Amino acid sequence: MIKPHISAAAIQTDAEQNAAPLLHALLRYADRNMLHFDVPGHKKRNNPELAAVFGERTLRMDANSTPELDMLGNPIGVIAEAEHLLAEAYGADEAFFLVNGSTCGVQYMIFASCHPGDKIIIPRNVHKSAVNALILTGAHPVFVEPEVDEQYGILNGVRFENMRRAIDQNPDAKAVFVINPTYFGASSDLRAITTYAHEHNMDVLVDEAHGAHLPFHPDFPVSAMEVGADFSTISLHKTGGAFTQSSALLMHVGRHTRAQMHTVINLFETTSASYLLMASADIARRNLAVKGQALFENLLRSVRALKEEINAMPGLSVLTEDDIDGEGVCGYDETKIVVRVNELGLTGFEVYDILRKDYHIQPELSETYVVLFIVSVGDDESTLNSLEKALCALSHRFYGKKERFSVSMQGVLHKPKAVITPREAFYAEKKTVAISQAVDEICGESVMIYPPGIPLAIPGEKLTREVIDSYNFYREQGGLLVSDEDQTDTIKILEQSKF
Ligand SMILES: Cc1ncc(COP(=O)(O)O)c(C=O)c1O
Repeated sequence: MIKPHISAAAIQTDAEQNAAPLLHALLRYADRNMLHFDVPGHKKRNNPELAAVFGERTLRMDANSTPELDMLGNPIGVIAEAEHLLAEAYGADEAFFLVNGSTCGVQYMIFASCHPGDKIIIPRNVHKSAVNALILTGAHPVFVEPEVDEQYGILNGVRFENMRRAIDQNPDAKAVFVINPTYFGASSDLRAITTYAHEHNMDVLVDEAHGAHLPFHPDFPVSAMEVGADFSTISLHKTGGAFTQSSALLMHVGRHTRAQMHTVINLFETTSASYLLMASADIARRNLAVKGQALFENLLRSVRALKEEINAMPGLSVLTEDDIDGEGVCGYDETKIVVRVNELGLTGFEVYDILRKDYHIQPELSETYVVLFIVSVGDDESTLNSLEKALCALSHRFYGKKERFSVSMQGVLHKPKAVITPREAFYAEKKTVAISQAVDEICGESVMIYPPGIPLAIPGEKLTREVIDSYNFYREQGGLLVSDEDQTDTIKILEQSKF
């Protein structure tokens, strides 16, 4: 039974956001020095290696659930308090800590909303976790194509008109899925999409893996909870400052209850949730709620100055809201720095390697023409100054030495053709063939470059010549191709190629 929890209304003042109830309970627990006959089996002692590497106090904080630490699967104590502070900070009715990243949050949202066979309207440039959710749930995707920016070679948001058309043409759909913002910072018209979907009795599920910071500065695009979406998954670890894997699921109750969502979460979530991760999420929430606005005010000033500098560097240009205005974009997250480098005669992949090797700069990812740098709560003027110096040196070193790099973006930004649903393909008989022999076959697995983890092909899609060309292109460029097969030159296809 899910026990009653503290009402969000009881936690009203900003002052209360200064509290970190889970963190403090964990610190008290660590300092109690109990003799442990419970798990974890390292027992917090007699383990000099773990203690030396991670610190003794960290070892004592690696706990199993106890009465004073509460339990993630049935929170009635400090976890419930911390989740309510999290909900309040994001303007949600309810919040749930997640310890398996946003991957599981995306899956829980789809699971909570769709029964097997239900339709979900979803952009094709979703992360692999959403495709996996379609396999797990048996929901039928109605894919909507995102806008293509050929100049930068990236996919942006989905236009409201295209979402509206999909809703009109599929009045029986159960849910609409939106990415806010995309990896590259583009936000669709989330408010209009949410209103229209709700008018048509559809849930709105928002992947905010890259938007955990959105509510904390007025210049950021609107967040899912602000516009009344039903569910949102945020990666507190990506831009919020928590440890890797610490995410959260936010919801507005009404179309669904907290108990319904909790039932879904408890189907999948570990019964041994890491307190280190959850406490780090408690710290991240407090920091964002208490200091976020001032912190982002300063960061945005430095980011804007940096982007002007980059645009003035020969051979480099940086994506701004003006570049993508009208391309399905209704807001732009300025903390994403998308730098186009092909005028230097280099690909994004080459620049990624050069920055790492020669300048000790770790970008988030590279694409054919661009490199993406993510700015978050861990940055300040000094980190941005170092990035500026490295990019300036790069421009001096390479500009004018080579022809601009250019390829046809047709293959890279191809429009996929779904033949059967991802779940049907997942359960169909398959065989493994060389990539060169897979043209016009039906794909049996998700194939993607990582990051960003957006599949080039998903189970059930036709492997057109363009998809195979694009696969080969990424391989030649040294992109990390991830599929189920260990060998990179083979792919799983369906035994049957006609449906
Ligand atoms: C858009 C998007 N959604 C979901 C995820 C999954 O998040 P996580 O890595 O926290 O599981 C990612 C990861 O990169 C992502 O880019």
